[in-house]
Amino acid sequence: EIFKNAADASIIIAQEIAYLIMSKQKKNKNCVLGLATGSSPIKVYEELVRMHREDGLSFSNVITFNLDEYYPMSKENNQSYYYFMHEHLFNHIDILPENIHIPDGTVRFDSLNQYCIDYEMTIKNKGGLDFQLLGIGRTGHVGFNEPGSHVNSQTRIITLDHITRLDASSDFNGINNVPKRAITMGVSTILRSKRVVLAAWKQNKAEIIERTIQGLISSEIPATFLQNHTNVTFVLDQSAASEL
Ligand code: GLP
Repeated sequence: EIFKNAADASIIIAQEIAYLIMSKQKKNKNCVLGLATGSSPIKVYEELVRMHREDGLSFSNVITFNLDEYYPMSKENNQSYYYFMHEHLFNHIDILPENIHIPDGTVRFDSLNQYCIDYEMTIKNKGGLDFQLLGIGRTGHVGFNEPGSHVNSQTRIITLDHITRLDASSDFNGINNVPKRAITMGVSTILRSKRVVLAAWKQNKAEIIERTIQGLISSEIPATFLQNHTNVTFVLDQSAASEL
C-alpha cells in the first residue's frame, strides 16, 4: 500500500492496531503486539498515544514484545531501545509494566543463550504474536536479522552488519561507539506472527524495498522471507515505493 506521506500511512497502521486491541478487549482477550524501534514507527506510536489521550483507547489488555536491543546496552542509556520505547510509547499509555518485554542488553554473556530461549518461550506462552510491526534496514534486515540470517532463526545474539553500524553512527556520535552486537528476535519468530506490517519511508529505502518485494527470496536479504507470509502488508510512502 502506497501513501502520499508517512504521516497519513502511520495513522492507518495505528488504526489497525487500535482496532485489533479493541476487538480483543470485547472478547476479554489479551492482544500481543510485536514492536519495532527506529524512525519508521515513531508516528505510529504518536498516533496511538493520541488515541489513548483523546479517544480513551486503553492498553490494559496489551502485551508487547520488542524485536531487538543492542548488546551490551544499559536501560538508562538514551541510545537503548528500552529508552526509546518508554520515551515514545510506554510512558504515555496505560500498559501494565509487567506486560512489556524488551530484550535485555544487560544480561551476562554466559546467560544469553538461555535468556534468548526464554524470550522465545514467553512469546509462545502468551499465545504468540497477533501483530508484528517492522521497519527495514538498508541491509534488508528486519529486527536485527542481518544478511545470512536463516529462515528458521530464533531469538539470539547477532553481529551487526557494517552498513547497519554506519547508519546508527549519527545516534552514537561515531561508528566506533555503535555496539557490535545485538539481541534480536529471529526470522521465524517474526514469520510466526499472525499479521505483519512493514513500514518504510523515504528515498534511501527505495532500493531495499524493491529487492525485498520483487527480488528472489534469500537469506542474503532476510526481509525477502516475508514474501512467504500469508498476511503481510508493506506500507510505503511514495519515495520508498519509487523503485517498484
Ligand atoms: C534498526 C532496527 C530495525 C529498524 C531499522 C530501520 O536497525 N533494529 O528494527 O527497522 O533500524 O530504522 P529506521 O526506521 O530508523 O530507518
